[in-house]
Amino acid sequence: MKKGFAAYAGIIALSVVVLGTLVLAGCGGEEPAQAGDEAAVEEQIVVGLSLPTQREERWVRDRETMIAEAERQGIDLRVAVADADMAQQVAQVENLLVQGAEVLILAPHDANAASSLVEGAAADGVPVISYDRLILSDLVDVYLSFDNERVGELQGEFITDLVPGGNYIVMSGAPTDNNAALFKRGAMTYIQPLADSGDINIISERAVDNWLPENALNIVENALTANSNDVDAILAPNDGTAGGAIQALSAQGLAGEVPITGQDAELSGVRRIVEGTQSMTIFKDTRELGVAAIEAAITLAEGGAVETNNEVEGVPSLLLTPHIVTADNIDLLIDSGYFSREEIYDD
Ligand code: BGC
Repeated sequence: MKKGFAAYAGIIALSVVVLGTLVLAGCGGEEPAQAGDEAAVEEQIVVGLSLPTQREERWVRDRETMIAEAERQGIDLRVAVADADMAQQVAQVENLLVQGAEVLILAPHDANAASSLVEGAAADGVPVISYDRLILSDLVDVYLSFDNERVGELQGEFITDLVPGGNYIVMSGAPTDNNAALFKRGAMTYIQPLADSGDINIISERAVDNWLPENALNIVENALTANSNDVDAILAPNDGTAGGAIQALSAQGLAGEVPITGQDAELSGVRRIVEGTQSMTIFKDTRELGVAAIEAAITLAEGGAVETNNEVEGVPSLLLTPHIVTADNIDLLIDSGYFSREEIYDD
């Protein structure tokens, strides 16, 4: 019904543009725009999208998916990307509101600091969709993400099954990202009991500031040095940090010798699984999340209620299911069209 309307509006807009072009062509381009022009443009829902970064491949996909879906649905999506910098994100969101965004899709760089943006939007009567990362504010209208604690559980279960005892490096994501705490909480439900029983010895437990691979590299490098390379397993919260950690292992000739987790199904991570230097990743189909976000934005703009399946910190939430990927089920990524076989296996 809504899609039908959007498509219908799109056809009207297109006809007006075509008509307008013909009129302009007929009059040597001096004819003022037709009155219908503006009316058709105004009918388009304006949605603001603010993403924290494009550093990890997944955020590039999120962006591309939402742009394509917005075009398909005939809405006007204004996109801003902050370079993992909160001041930049604040300025960009303020700008999106000035541009007349009727709904805001916001993936925060900093979960706490972004609450002031939600307050600003709410003051303007603009509903906010917290995207992938939760913004810590009561005023968020809906949260769309994956089951992030489950992501951590899948990582923790996998690594403790493979290495039930020994020296562990435990890394978590950026402290500014609420997801990082959820991933770690999930993973520790498996690691902590074995640490308590003395089977696992956590030799280094550190957060990776800003999710930067080079910070992960430093953490692992230091832990290797301090423990004379005696490391049995590494919990890395995502593929980016796993990449940094594997570089540190590689410098000691240990790549492929120390099981290590990941997340995001980045192409480089998947290729490392194939070559045997990374043990697993988590596939979160961000294409589904992006489509859900555009649909939710349209629903909110039309005053409707978004369908949810959960509640996180009091916020109605839609949490999609994450999937584990190991060397045994890489075809999952190919079958779902996330990567082609060539992308994964060809040089
Ligand atoms: C996302 C991960 C991503 C990380 C770094 C998290 O909030 O859920 O998919 O790897 O941020 O960007």
